[in-house]
Amino acid sequence: MLRPRKAVDRLKAYHPPREGRGGKLRLDFNENTVGCAPQVIRALRNKLDGDWLSRYPEYEEARESLARYFGVSADELLLANGTDDAIKMVCDTFVGPGDELIVPAPTFPVYEFFHTVAGGRTTRVRYDEKFRLTARMLVSAVNKRTRWMAIANPNNPTGTVVSQPDLRRILCEAPDVLVLVDEAYVDFSGQTVLPWIRKHPNLVVTRTFSKAFGLAALRLGCILTNAEIAEPMRRAQNPFAVNSLALACALEAIKHDKFVARYARQVCGNRDKLCRFLDKIGIPYVPSSSNFVLARVGAKASEIALKLRDQDILIRDWSYDPRLQGYLRFTVGSTDQTRRLMQGLAEFAPMMETRNGTGPSRKSSKGRSS
Ligand SMILES: Cc1ncc(COP(=O)(O)O)c(C=O)c1O
Repeated sequence: MLRPRKAVDRLKAYHPPREGRGGKLRLDFNENTVGCAPQVIRALRNKLDGDWLSRYPEYEEARESLARYFGVSADELLLANGTDDAIKMVCDTFVGPGDELIVPAPTFPVYEFFHTVAGGRTTRVRYDEKFRLTARMLVSAVNKRTRWMAIANPNNPTGTVVSQPDLRRILCEAPDVLVLVDEAYVDFSGQTVLPWIRKHPNLVVTRTFSKAFGLAALRLGCILTNAEIAEPMRRAQNPFAVNSLALACALEAIKHDKFVARYARQVCGNRDKLCRFLDKIGIPYVPSSSNFVLARVGAKASEIALKLRDQDILIRDWSYDPRLQGYLRFTVGSTDQTRRLMQGLAEFAPMMETRNGTGPSRKSSKGRSS
């Protein structure tokens, strides 16, 4: 039998999340829950003629417009089929068998996934019990084999950020380690290190149109980095990974970024409402700088997630992670959607373990509340 590479042979099967999410209250993927700017859909309809669809994509104009939008030059930007593809591009270009990746834990699993496919090994640096993570914790994990470090900022699923002084310290103290700062949720945190790409030769920033911009189905992400890192990545890249529809929509979306900023402001307001509600019912949560909140509801977390699903409210159960047992992650959307979520949670509150010992169990919480 033809055997795959060793790294692939060892790989566990990937179980994609459940399908059939259309029409439900989707608070499980940190997506934009109201949709993209309406002008984007109109622009897409206007584009759809046969000539346009039968032609291979053309990238230069789009790359220049996006570079202008992000305030970089075109040779500092690479287009990718979503952040997932951007992560794969980092691995394709820089990772060989036995190389190490450092990631916080818990975090977005795709860094480790593509790194493992490339034959690398991963060191996970755990958040402390108060969900804190410092530069010292990450830098002290660096060794001779460390090739790169991936920091989602804000992080998924915690919603926490690594501070700017800490990020600067990591970049300076690990100059031979490529540091990927994944800013998928930047519209909600308002914190970016993008202006640093010329100052720090080891910095790679990623952005996506999947979250606040509301274009997850189209799969478009950008890598922003200094020209020396970008150049080999461009050589190793799948030449037609990004499709024309995604580019046309992104170019229209950036013209209407006020729509995105307004949505992000509403979401942050609703996130605060959700946190006040969790305080009121005594459920500990991790203070979030993103469009989701990780909360500790206790031993019946999975049961509660299923009961919410029966009401067509989809949320993410993180209980499969041994260190996050009892935790659920709620994406925050519009005011009405947040109200519906809170109504659902209120109904199942008697099943939850509260901070002050009401509910089915009297265990105290490890999570932090604000
Ligand atoms: C931190 C983080 N980065 C990237 C992504 C995925 O982005 P994309 O849709 O651009 O591949 C996610 C999705 O959940 C995420 O949480």
